[in-house]
Amino acid sequence: MKRARIIGTGSYLPEKVLSNTDLEKMVDTNDEWILSRTGIKERRIAADDETTSTLATKAAQRALEMAGVTPDQIDLLIVATITGDFPWPSTACLVQDQIGAKNAAAWDVSAACSGFVYALSSASKFLETGAATRALVIGAEVLSRIIDWEDRNTCILFGDGAGAVVLEAHEGESGILSSHLHADGADWKLLYQPGFGSRHPASISGIEERLPYLKMEGNEVFKIAVRSMYDVAIEALTANGLTSRDVHLLFPHQANKRILEAVRKRLELRPEQLYSMVERCGNTSGASIPLALDEANRNGQIKEGDIVVFDAFGGGFTWGAIPVRW
Ligand code: ACO
Repeated sequence: MKRARIIGTGSYLPEKVLSNTDLEKMVDTNDEWILSRTGIKERRIAADDETTSTLATKAAQRALEMAGVTPDQIDLLIVATITGDFPWPSTACLVQDQIGAKNAAAWDVSAACSGFVYALSSASKFLETGAATRALVIGAEVLSRIIDWEDRNTCILFGDGAGAVVLEAHEGESGILSSHLHADGADWKLLYQPGFGSRHPASISGIEERLPYLKMEGNEVFKIAVRSMYDVAIEALTANGLTSRDVHLLFPHQANKRILEAVRKRLELRPEQLYSMVERCGNTSGASIPLALDEANRNGQIKEGDIVVFDAFGGGFTWGAIPVRW
């Protein structure tokens, strides 16, 4: 059977930095509280003229350049996002136009912070079955536009950014080894954006009730996230006859440092086996794993044959893990 292997990575972070000290001037919080509870020092915020598709486009162009692939050679383009430019058309269609990938089918995946893992899994199936040859998978978010900047429980956590990978089908041992996806819709209310969809269509009263902004029960999310990310990482490793000791780098969804550390300790990974950039970017939802992957890849921290594992949890709830032989 063919495998989907990653032949290029790219990412883009907006220039504007929002530090914890900046947040102290906006809500009743402080650097010490944010750092001790989340490990986050700063996050990036998109400029007024930037949108999810423009961030995604920059990340995609960098990944294509590394892969040595031209946009017209891409036949599948999937964007994982919950903050698309519009409810529809998809952000993937906008990116397809902006990069000139005129031969690509394009659609968005909505699985919140697990979006990249869901999108990567979907693309890999097309490549493994021969339904596509080269795919571009992007995680991109401008969460700053759905954050309630008056809610100190949530506004300190999130940031904007985009990451992308180019996948190519090949016959060989390297590439995506398997994918393991799960969902449980019972707890959707613990993390969601109430407005404005078909349940709460656009209204002046809805704006006054702050419905267009993300809502979260942080304590509950924390517990379920740690358990689910651990369980699915073990499931993914076991399915391939691997253990934690085989993992060169774990790329968890960069939610916050306490979640990452709890998952790392349960998996009995050494600190250097876990890749984290959450202190510099905050939680960028579907963008967080490809952002971290691109940074590690460009720094030469992954070499041929290494086992890396993507491990995510997000709203829905959704969660999933993908082990890759580089
Ligand atoms: N600054 C100062 N104080 C604050 C702040 C803030 N920004 N936010 C909350 N507090 C206060 C609370 O009001 C509360 O005060 P009280 O005791 O007087 O009521 C106190 O700090 C403790 O609040 P908790 O919510 O219990 O704090 P906790 O230790 O649980 O940390 C946090 C909150 C960081 C949100 C934590 O629950 C968490 O990390 N949850 C995971 C959520 C997450 O990462 N979600 C991302 C999306 S899902 C995903 O990506 C996996």
